[in-house]
Amino acid sequence: MTDALKLGFGPFTSAGKLGSSGVLIVFCDDGLKFGAASAKALGSATGLVARAAKTERFTGKSGSALELIVPGGLNVARLVVIGTGKAAGLEAKEFLKLGGAAMGKLPASASEGVVFAETSKGAMTANQAADLAQGVVLRAYAFDRYKTQRKDEDKPPAKRSLTVATGDIAGARKAYESRAGVAYGVLMARDLVNEPANVLHPEEFARRTLALKKTGVAVEVLDIEAMKKLGMGALLGVGQGSVRESRVVVMRWNGGKKSDAPVAFIGKGVCFDTGGISIKPAAAMEDMKGDMAGAACVVGLMQALAARKAKVNAVGVIGIVENMPDGNAQRPGDIVTSMSGQTIEIINTDAEGRLVLADVVWYTAKRFKPKFMVDLATLTGAIIVALGQEYAGMFSNDDKLSERLTKAGEATGELVWRMPLNAAYDKMIDSKIADMKNTGGSRWGGAITAAQFIQRFVSGKTPWAHLDIAGTGFDSRSSDINKSWGSGWGVRLLDRLVADYYEK
Ligand code: BES
Ligand code: MN
Ligand code: ZN
Repeated sequence: MTDALKLGFGPFTSAGKLGSSGVLIVFCDDGLKFGAASAKALGSATGLVARAAKTERFTGKSGSALELIVPGGLNVARLVVIGTGKAAGLEAKEFLKLGGAAMGKLPASASEGVVFAETSKGAMTANQAADLAQGVVLRAYAFDRYKTQRKDEDKPPAKRSLTVATGDIAGARKAYESRAGVAYGVLMARDLVNEPANVLHPEEFARRTLALKKTGVAVEVLDIEAMKKLGMGALLGVGQGSVRESRVVVMRWNGGKKSDAPVAFIGKGVCFDTGGISIKPAAAMEDMKGDMAGAACVVGLMQALAARKAKVNAVGVIGIVENMPDGNAQRPGDIVTSMSGQTIEIINTDAEGRLVLADVVWYTAKRFKPKFMVDLATLTGAIIVALGQEYAGMFSNDDKLSERLTKAGEATGELVWRMPLNAAYDKMIDSKIADMKNTGGSRWGGAITAAQFIQRFVSGKTPWAHLDIAGTGFDSRSSDINKSWGSGWGVRLLDRLVADYYEK
């Protein structure tokens, strides 16, 4: 999953033990001011730093860095100064980002580093140091399992260690436990998204979710027979053109009171989306190995909730299929019957995600009667046209849930923007000969008509939100805490939603 990075916590005096091959990383603000421990560690190199800052026009802007190689007066290979901008009032997501920036400055050639959990305002709190550490781990991730021919000089050292130096080692370690659980969930999601579709087909995806059992998650896999019995004709229709069998996986974490209704998370897991008979053009089709990012997020989230022993009952349900053109594939014009009993005229076999969700959303609502449902799906190109890669599109029948998701988004930096739903859009998916059709008929409002389609399978008054993550789930903007193609987007957002509102 990631280069063997050994992350630890230690005292500020750890810097003294670095030696001539180590890297020392400290923070300064936009007035080039250091905290006391950092200033002390710099000692006689302070003047050198000031001169280098001037030469490099380094002003301590947030996330910017100044690097000094074999700095005179310090027994280290490299000194890295990272700017925090204004040091007052930094939020959790900013400490995360600083940790990512710090990890980014631990060069592949270095085997040992120390980063000071201190700003110009003084030592970071235990929580802040733990946020920093989480940022380190998220940044350290690389999907390199298929890189077999790297030359020795390009390989990272077999053992790399980074010590987070803090005034409160025990406190930081404790605060880090839950964050490590969440970080591991994000990395798990990234691994699933990055994995190619010849390896990660539906059965293999289902098999990998069994790893969650180790953390106390109950995992149940529904095979074709079980799905047929339930009447999941919409989901099964999508998978019927593939030699790989479809699966539904149900994951349950019971950390709350027995009598409490669960919160539910649902994911689109299209292991590869060729478009089916309505086949996609060749350009960038390879990206469609990531069309299961919604399902990957749900798996990572369940892992995270269990790892940090969240005081909540949560279910994760994912529909896993492969959308292929084949002699047995579904055709445009076909009519399928969903588990809800509603019939669907297939206009375009490339609008397959909503068909998968139709059955898993209905199934989840009926079986678990959840407090709310959030589904995630790389559902439409249209949402990328609307929002780019900065926000995921959010569609919801519930203002309270929407507001909470928006707040959790702002706190974590995984942003969501609410989009409209209404009767006029809903009408656009009426069919002449079936209960509905699977596209809106034109490209206009394509993300909205897709959401309207899903809403027809949200029974009754269950609070529901649909997150269209086509722009954020993969190939996303590289950031201080992610350099990977698969982003693991949504794990931190939904973990935060649960932590802030549903564990009391
Ligand atoms: N998986 C795609 C959406 C997608 C496109 C995700 C690009 C990420 C990047 C989805 O199944 C799809 O093909 N949607 C169609 C719907 C259309 C046929 C109504 C689309 O967006 O073009
Ligand atoms: Mn498609
Ligand atoms: Zn798709």
